Order: sequence, then structure tokens, then C-alpha cells
Amino acid sequence: MFNQLVLKYFEKLETPFYFYDTGLLHKTLFAIKEAANLYHYTIHYAVKANANERILRIISSYGLGADCVSGNEIERALNCGFTPNKIVFAGVGKTDQEIKYSIDENISCINCESIEELQVINSIAQASKKKVRVALRINPNIDANTHHHVTTGLSSNKFGISQYELMLIIKNINTFKNLQINGLHFHIGSQITDLNVFKELIKVVNTFQNFLREQNIEISYINLGGGLGIDYENPESQIPDFQTYFSGFNKSLQIFNGQTVLFEPGRSIVGQCGSLISRVLFVKNNGDRKTIILDSGFTELLRPALYQANHKIINLSSNKSLEEYDIAGPICETSDYFGRSILLPSTQRGDLIAILSVGAYGEVMASQYNLRTIASKYFSEDIKPKLEKSKTIFHNHYLF
Ligand code: LLP
Repeated sequence: MFNQLVLKYFEKLETPFYFYDTGLLHKTLFAIKEAANLYHYTIHYAVKANANERILRIISSYGLGADCVSGNEIERALNCGFTPNKIVFAGVGKTDQEIKYSIDENISCINCESIEELQVINSIAQASKKKVRVALRINPNIDANTHHHVTTGLSSNKFGISQYELMLIIKNINTFKNLQINGLHFHIGSQITDLNVFKELIKVVNTFQNFLREQNIEISYINLGGGLGIDYENPESQIPDFQTYFSGFNKSLQIFNGQTVLFEPGRSIVGQCGSLISRVLFVKNNGDRKTIILDSGFTELLRPALYQANHKIINLSSNKSLEEYDIAGPICETSDYFGRSILLPSTQRGDLIAILSVGAYGEVMASQYNLRTIASKYFSEDIKPKLEKSKTIFHNHYLF
């Protein structure tokens, strides 16, 4: 990705900016489709991970569905080529307007998180004279073994329907005349790298499904959420192991005739295709430590400050001997660091720095705090024709 011509292209651009390797995105989409097709699994991309219109258009061109968590995400997905019958609307706090909008647009299904929400969806559906497909999002009380800020399946989390509430719903199921409650939804967390966690999930899904069947509630689709993690330390591995992930479900998930199995991956599709490119403003030396101050901060990439996440950082301009640096942004907050004690080639003002694996939850979580300008976006496919003319491609420190 970062060959000499790309670097030359970067030189002219105002930093900071997001750079997307669309070739890698295509490869990742091909890989996930190929792996999912083996078991006839359906993929709904979680739009929240990256809602950039060009990225969404590429994803929808592979026939994927969309998992949306706001009316605006539904509208964006529709505008970017996702068809309504492949859009699912999730989220713990949908407004009445958003619910009505999703019903008017005839999306595939609403994932519901409480009995009160079922009542609201039912009355809006009734007013619209429609029958709406609903999946129940169950809180399975499973520890996803990931950062506590991205754990969603514990009973102490706000997400999903508890066993207690599920019993109430079953008792009142006949009162929801305008709902077709025929789906089950689970999502236990994000950036899950311990695949044993999914084994636990499958056991719980099987138990819930059998219990509902005993209550004569027919389930026609099971949505297993997203959560598959990516390798932030070795972005070179690039494409997540979708084969192993899906084959684990295939081995133990109980499926009955005619049932559809859905997944909602976000990060694993877009995570590795994006980088944040910044310039070094200053290198401070306080005698004990050297601190690189970049022109991007947590306004462009919040993950290190919010989840203590580590993203690989490389200097695109220097191949001098290594030195140890803290790497910080310009925001007036002590948490505005991208890394501590990072080894980089000797770095100076003006160097270009790439922060990797920023494709998921990077651009979408940007803010204008300190009245900063929202960063621009560039795409590898736009510079490809020029690359092809070149005979000599010099591989810099890092190549996708
Ligand atoms: N489905 C539901 C219901 C979700 O809540 C999420 C993510 C996904 C699917 C997609 O999960 P993924 O495959 O991307 O792990 N900002 C945090 C991540 C928040 C995830 C929120 N929910 C981060 O940067 O790590």
C-alpha cells in the first residue's frame, strides 16, 4: 500500500487524512463471502464500523446486507445500494420516528431489546397497518473476554432481553398482533480473539432455541451478531480467519429446516483496510523521554484514548536507526496519546506517520472537539492508474 508512488501522492496532501486500501477491502469481502457460502450463512455488514459512502458502496456490491443502528444509518445504507429486504435495524434505544421510518422503508427485520420496545413497535406497526418482522435480542450473560467497554452480553450490560423479560414476552406473545416474532439475535461483544467464547455462545443459542420451540414459538432466523477480532499487532495478517470462525458455528450450532443464519461483522471486514496518515508537528525532548506530537489526535482516532487500544504505528519518511518515543496528538487532553515507548526510526518534524488498522471505528468516531476540521479521505483505487505506469515499485517499510 505504501510504495514510493503512494508516498509521493501523500506528499501533496494536507494531513491528517484517512487512507483506504480498497484492493484489500475487495479481497476481504471475497474471503468472507467464500467462507460464509460454504455453510449458506448470510452476512449483514455492521454499518457502525465504517459508514463512509464509498466503502459502503463497495460492500453492498458484494450482495451483503446491512446491520443498522439508527435511522440515519438505514438511510445511508439505502442510498449506498443495500436493498431494504437485507437491512436489519438494531439498537437498545430506537426513537419512535426511527421505528416508523424503518417500517415505512419495509426493511427486513427489527431486532428488539425489551418488552416495552415490542409494545411500541407493535403500536406503530398497527397505525401503519403492517405486520413487522421482529427478532428478540437475547442477553445470554456470557463474558466475551474482551475490553469491558465493548462487552455487551453480560447481564450487567444494558443490551438484550433477560431471561426474566423473555418469560414475560412469551406470556404476552399473543398481544403483539402486528408483529411476527420469528428471529433470535445475539451479540456478545467486539474485538473477540478468543474463539472459545463463540463456543459458549453456541451452547446458549441452542438452549434458547430449544426452549422457544418447546413454547411453540417458531424461529426462522438466528442472528449471531458480530465481534470477530482483528490482529492489531500484526496487521500484515490482514484478512481474518473467516473459515475457522464459521466452521466453529457449523460444527455445533443446531439448525432446523429452512432456518437462516445471519452474522453482523463490522471490524473484521473493514478494520485492516484503513490507515490514518499524519505529519509530525514537533518532537519534544524533556531529557528523559522524547514525545512525537502529531497533527492527528483522538478526534481522528478515539480507540487508544477510549479503550487503551494499540494500533501499529510506522514512520513512512525515515529509515534511520530506531529510537524510543511516546506518540501523542495535539488535543488539549492528557489522554491524547497513540502509544507509549514505541520504537520508531529516528523521527523529525515533517515526517509522515501512518497509524494502521483504522478502517473500523476510526472515521466514524471522529469528532470536532477543539473545533478541529474533520479529516479528508483518500482511496487507493484513485491512484492505481498512475501506479501501473511505473516500472519500479519501491517497497517502503510496510506493504499491504
Ligand atoms: N452487531 C451489534 C449488535 C453490535 O453492537 C456490533 C458492534 C456489531 C454487530 C459489530 O461488531 P464488530 O464485528 O465490529 O465487532 N467502537 C468499539 C467497538 C464498538 C462495537 C459496537 N457494536 C471499538 O472501536 O472497539
